Amino acid sequence: MSEFDQAANRRRFLQFLAGSPLLAAGGGAAFANDVLLPKPRQPDPLMWGPLEPQNLIKTPKEAINVFDLEPVCRQNVPPAHFGYMASGIDDEVTLRANREGFLKFQLRPRRLVDVSKVSMKTEILGETYDSPIVVAPVGGQRSFHADGEAGTARAAKAGNHLQILSTATSFGVEEVIAARSAPIWFQLYATNKWEVSEYLVKRVEKAGCTAVAVTVDRNGGRNQETLFRLMKGDTRQCDACHDRSSLQANLKTRGMWSGADLSGLTHTQSSAMTWDFFKKLRDITKMKILAKGILAWEDAVLAADAGLDGIIVSNHGARSEDSGRSTIDALPEIVEAVKGRIPILVDSGFRRGSDVVKALCMGATAVCVGRPYIWGLGAFGQPGVERALEMLRVETYAMMQQVGAPSIKHLVPAMVRRA
Ligand SMILES: Cc1cc2nc3c(=O)[nH]c(=O)nc-3n(C[C@H](O)[C@H](O)[C@H](O)COP(=O)(O)O)c2cc1C
Repeated sequence: MSEFDQAANRRRFLQFLAGSPLLAAGGGAAFANDVLLPKPRQPDPLMWGPLEPQNLIKTPKEAINVFDLEPVCRQNVPPAHFGYMASGIDDEVTLRANREGFLKFQLRPRRLVDVSKVSMKTEILGETYDSPIVVAPVGGQRSFHADGEAGTARAAKAGNHLQILSTATSFGVEEVIAARSAPIWFQLYATNKWEVSEYLVKRVEKAGCTAVAVTVDRNGGRNQETLFRLMKGDTRQCDACHDRSSLQANLKTRGMWSGADLSGLTHTQSSAMTWDFFKKLRDITKMKILAKGILAWEDAVLAADAGLDGIIVSNHGARSEDSGRSTIDALPEIVEAVKGRIPILVDSGFRRGSDVVKALCMGATAVCVGRPYIWGLGAFGQPGVERALEMLRVETYAMMQQVGAPSIKHLVPAMVRRA
């Protein structure tokens, strides 16, 4: 949860308190104001440089950290679309855990190492990128800005990031690869119909994707409360863009579903998927295959046993369940069990260079980010995405200097401790 959200939550809490019978008898509101009024930035000790969410930045360059982009995105993006992006599930325990999880771990800096030059070069499944920061698959990016996934691709190109394209992309894979001018990965939602997966996989392989990451954590319903609440305040006519006459009609307007035979399709996700799906997938593609959404070491071992090329430790940015399990908490047991057999990528809640460095010290190969670049996209389009990714790179670079690591291989388990 961003600090902007925290301030909003505190305000809501105060409004609730002010209306509470407990405080109704004289002095209650004054007590609430004096004692509980949100301080500009708590519990951050930097009281002389308070975060002021009401003073929005006007250009990407003004952003000091990725959080500065979020309120601008909130201002620009329609409430329902912003709610779709921001939402967790139920009580959003996992959403908070994804951020709070990082506080459980401390970095253990080494000194007197020459870090006048740091290389963040990272090899991921045989390709070398300038940093370990990966653009996570996020669906429907045109709902945040007209630049959509093509703008994100141009921003990924500017910083030489690996980009993973969502099945629910607004743009077709061909356009996105052209914008990135390099191979990307594709994220697959299996759906309830094998032939649709087959169509998508063949199309993206032909277009030049080198890996397919099958999302395995969206296998049930979900109560996206923040989305549903913000939708109520959105007065636009949604039917103008979303054809809700049928699932097929709705999907046909998206970049990847057009061209597929969607008859018999009842779900875009698959609640019946088992490891057999990966065997079938192996038979139809030469692309590398990963499972996205692993949280338990047992599943990580099964993935390696099944011959997968990698896994993404993810809880879908707290959008698929409210288990309360953060990915940074899940990572150590997974790294230990996998024993280096396959690369491990991780996402969910990464907002700072220190978050990235902690995961790499623990043994992750790379870190994917979702919402931070979407805040940039919603705020300023492609330049906002570029700025979000740039700030994450700059922070990661500085953090590597701070812990005494001139290259990625110097980020070792001894540099991170559970607090
Ligand atoms: C608006 C939005 C849409 C997303 N769409 C997809 C998707 O289509 N497929 C998928 O596998 N993950 C999707 N994700 C999850 C991301 O790939 C990633 O796991 C998550 O955003 C990482 O957490 P973070 O947002 O805290 O960085 C989406 C996330 C967001 C915020």
